[in-house]
Amino acid sequence: MKTPAAFYKPLAVGAPAPYRELPVRVERMIHFVPPHIEKVVAKVPEIARTVDVVLGNLEDAIPADKKEEARAGFISLARNADLGSAGLWTRINCLNSPWVLDDLTEIVSAVGNRLDVVMLPKVEGPWDIHYTDQLLAQLEARHGVDKPILIHAILETAEGVKNVESIATASPRMHGMSLGPADLAASRGMKTTRVGGGHPDYQVLSDPVEGETRTRFQQDLWHYTLAKMVDACLSAGLKAFYGPFGDFSDPQACEAQFRNAFLMGCAGAWTLHPTQIDIAKRVFSPDEGEVAFAKRILEAMPDGTGAVMIDGKMQDDATWKQAKVIVDLARQVASKDPEAAARYGL
Ligand code: GLV
Ligand code: MG
Repeated sequence: MKTPAAFYKPLAVGAPAPYRELPVRVERMIHFVPPHIEKVVAKVPEIARTVDVVLGNLEDAIPADKKEEARAGFISLARNADLGSAGLWTRINCLNSPWVLDDLTEIVSAVGNRLDVVMLPKVEGPWDIHYTDQLLAQLEARHGVDKPILIHAILETAEGVKNVESIATASPRMHGMSLGPADLAASRGMKTTRVGGGHPDYQVLSDPVEGETRTRFQQDLWHYTLAKMVDACLSAGLKAFYGPFGDFSDPQACEAQFRNAFLMGCAGAWTLHPTQIDIAKRVFSPDEGEVAFAKRILEAMPDGTGAVMIDGKMQDDATWKQAKVIVDLARQVASKDPEAAARYGL
C-alpha cells in the first residue's frame, strides 16, 4: 500500500497528474459498439447524440480473427467521428490475452487525447490495476497525453469479487466498476446460461399452509454482488454500474434489473442494443416526482440540519443528504438534456 503522499504522484515522468476527484459526467448508459463492423461504425455519430458514452468493444463478442480490425476501427472512429458531448471509452482485451499490449500501445499512441476511459475486463485484484496504471502512465508520457485516461474494472471473476475493495482503492486512475454477470456466472460455477437478469429457479417458498398453494418468490441473483460492488465503489469515490442485459426480447426484465441497480446506487448500465438506450435513460435519470419531493426537502431545510415534517413524513439531516443526491443528479442530467431540465423545473 502506498503512502498517501505517493498515491497521487504521476507514475511516469511527463504523465499527467492523476485526478484527485472524478470529473463529474453523466454516464447513464455505456453504449457498446463493435468497431470492426463498418455498417455499425457509420451510425455511431448519430447514436452518439442519444447516449452518454460510446464504447468501442475489443474483447468478448469480437472474433479472434477480427481483433486487429476492431482495434483499427476504434482508432479510426476516435479520430474521425464527431461524438458531440458523448464520452469515448474502449473495452480492451484482458491482461493475459495476446492482444492487450497492442490494444493499449496503439490506441494511446494514436488517440490517447480523445480517450476518456479504458474498461479492463476480468480484473482479479489490485495487481491488475497497478500494471495497467503504470503502463498507461508510460504511454501517456511518451505520447503527450494531457489528461489521465481512467480505468474502469469489470467485476466478473470470483477472485475479483473477493478483492473488490482493494481493486477500488488501487489507484487514483480508477473510474468505477461494472458487474459482468456472464463471466462471473461462469467463474463462480453458477448454473445459468444467461447474460444478467434473474432466473426463474432462484426462489424462496412461502411456509406450507394446509389447503393453500405455496407461493414462490423469485429472488435477485445479483443482489449480493451488486451491493458489495456499490459499497466498494462509493466508499472510494468511484461509480458503480450494472453491466450487460443480454435478453433483448425482454425489455421489461431489463428495465427491472436496471432499476434495482439504480435504486441500489449505480450510476448507469451497459446498452448492447439500441432498444436498451431509452430504457437506461429512463431508469438512470431520477424520477420527476422524486426530484420535486427532494427539492421540497432541500427548500424546507436550507442549512441541511434540524427536523421538519413534509406530507406527514419526517425529514432530518440524513434525508436532506438523500434529497441532495437526487437533486444533484437531476441537475447533472438537466445540464445535458433540455427535456429533462424542463421536466425537473431546473
Ligand atoms: C460482461 O463482460 C460479462 O461477462 O457479463
Ligand atoms: Mg465478460
